[in-house]
Amino acid sequence: MGLDDNETAENWTVVATVPDVPINGLQEVHFGRHVILLVNFENEIRAFQGLCPHQLARLGEGMLVDDMIQCPRHLARFSLADGSCSGGWQLAPLRRYEVQIEDGNILLKDPLVALE
Ligand code: FES
Repeated sequence: MGLDDNETAENWTVVATVPDVPINGLQEVHFGRHVILLVNFENEIRAFQGLCPHQLARLGEGMLVDDMIQCPRHLARFSLADGSCSGGWQLAPLRRYEVQIEDGNILLKDPLVALE
């Protein structure tokens, strides 16, 4: 993803490097007051809210199960495609955020804007 014409590099902040996120794994980072979950799945870095919408467990302490993020506390699972929860839970989907990769760095847009 590139920058739009009316954006500048100052709109993006480095939060980690690509090697910081295990392949097919999870890494928690902090971005201002936000806890963010970085996921490296099939060589694509994705960013989601880092706290479970159920009881705010830290999803970075969970694991990937196939193409789902599994919460460490009560094992709810969230789709990597759209953050939706499966398995009979009535939870809000995880917010997903735009990510940019530059020179091996992972950048998030500041301020965060959730993808639709
Ligand atoms: S805190 Fe995540 S499923 Fe309960």
